Amino acid sequence: MSKKILVTGGTGFIGSHTCCLLLEEGYELVVIDDFSNSSPEVVSKIKEITKRDFKFYEGDVKDKALLRKIFKTEKIDAVIHFAGYKAVGESVKEPLKYYRNNLDTTLSLLEVMEEFQCKKFVFSSSATVYGSPKSLPIKEDFPLSTTNPYGTTKLIIEGILKDLYQADPTWSVAILRYFNPIGAHPSGLLGENPNGIPNNLMPYIVKVATKELEILNVFGDDYDTKDGTGVRDYIHVMDLAMGHVKAIEKVFKENKLDCYNLGTGEGYSVLEIVQAFEKANHIQVPYRIVERRSGDIAACYADPTYAYEELGFKAEKGIEEMCRDAYHYIEVSKQENK
Ligand code: UD1
Repeated sequence: MSKKILVTGGTGFIGSHTCCLLLEEGYELVVIDDFSNSSPEVVSKIKEITKRDFKFYEGDVKDKALLRKIFKTEKIDAVIHFAGYKAVGESVKEPLKYYRNNLDTTLSLLEVMEEFQCKKFVFSSSATVYGSPKSLPIKEDFPLSTTNPYGTTKLIIEGILKDLYQADPTWSVAILRYFNPIGAHPSGLLGENPNGIPNNLMPYIVKVATKELEILNVFGDDYDTKDGTGVRDYIHVMDLAMGHVKAIEKVFKENKLDCYNLGTGEGYSVLEIVQAFEKANHIQVPYRIVERRSGDIAACYADPTYAYEELGFKAEKGIEEMCRDAYHYIEVSKQENK
C-alpha cells in the first residue's frame, strides 16, 4: 500500500514542485491550500505534469475542524508543512500577522496530528535561522538567531518541534533549512511569478529581462565577497523538491528529530547570477549598484554534507539551468495568457 502524505501549502512555489515529485514517486497525496499566495490552476498543472490525481481541500490550516475532517476521511501517514507567510519585509511591518498565521497554522496542525496519532512531520524552515553566520560554509550545528519576524517564526517552530519530540520521541521530524530556491519546473508549467515588485533576486531579474521592470538594483558592491556583491547558495527548486522526497523517506525509516541544510554548497554573487542569466538566456539584464538593503548579510552558503550522509540528498542542477528554467516558465506563462 502506498503511503498517503498531507501537503499543506502544496500549491506554492516549493510545495507544487514537491507534489509533482511525490506523485511521480508513487505517494498518494492530499493537498490543502487557501490560495493566499497561489492560484487554483496550479492544482490542474500538477495533475497535467504527473498524469496523476489527488484530493485537494481549499482552506486554511488554522481551521482545526477542517483538519479533523481531512484526518478522519483520509488516513494520513505523514505531513509536509509548507503553508506560511514568507515575505521578510512585510513581516517587519506586520509582525503580529506573521506570528499569528505561521504559529497558529503549525500548532493547529500538530495538535490535530497528535489527536489522530499521525506523528511524521517534515517542516519548511530556512537558512535565515542562522542569522549572520560566524563562518562559512554553514553547518547544521551553528548557533541560531534571526533578524526579522519571518525568520523568528521559523526559529520558534523549530523550538516547538524540538520540545514536542523531547516530550514524545515517537514523533519523527525532519526540519529542512532551505537556502535560496530558484528555477522552475522544466515543463514551464510551474514556477515563481510574484505579483507586483519582487523582493527576491531571481524573480526581479526575470522581470527586468521581460522589460516589465527597467533595471536591476544591486544592493551594495562593498561587501567582503569575491566582487563586493552579496553571495548566496542558489538551489534549483526541483533539487529542493527532491530533498523533501528524501526527508519523507527518512521520517518513515527512523523516529528522530533532525535538521538538514538543503543547499548546493556553492556561493554565487549577485553579479555572477546576472552573468549566468544573460548567458543562459541570451538576453541583457541592465543593472546599477545602489545602497545595501538593510538586514542583508554578505555571504551565506551551506555545508551540504550532513544532508548527503543522512538523507542521500545531493543537489545536481547547475546555475545556468536554474536561470534557464526560471525564464522559460515566464515565457510559457506569457504564451498561455495570449
Ligand atoms: C531572502 C530573505 C530570507 C528568505 C529568502 C527566501 C531577506 C533579508 N532575506 O533571502 O530570509 O528565507 O529570501 O527566498 O530578505 N538582491 C539584489 N537586488 C534585488 C534583490 C536581491 O541585489 O533586487 C541581492 C541581495 O542583496 C542578496 C541576493 O541578491 O545579496 C539574494 O537576495 P534575495 O533573493 O532577496 O534572497 P536573500 O536575501 O538571501
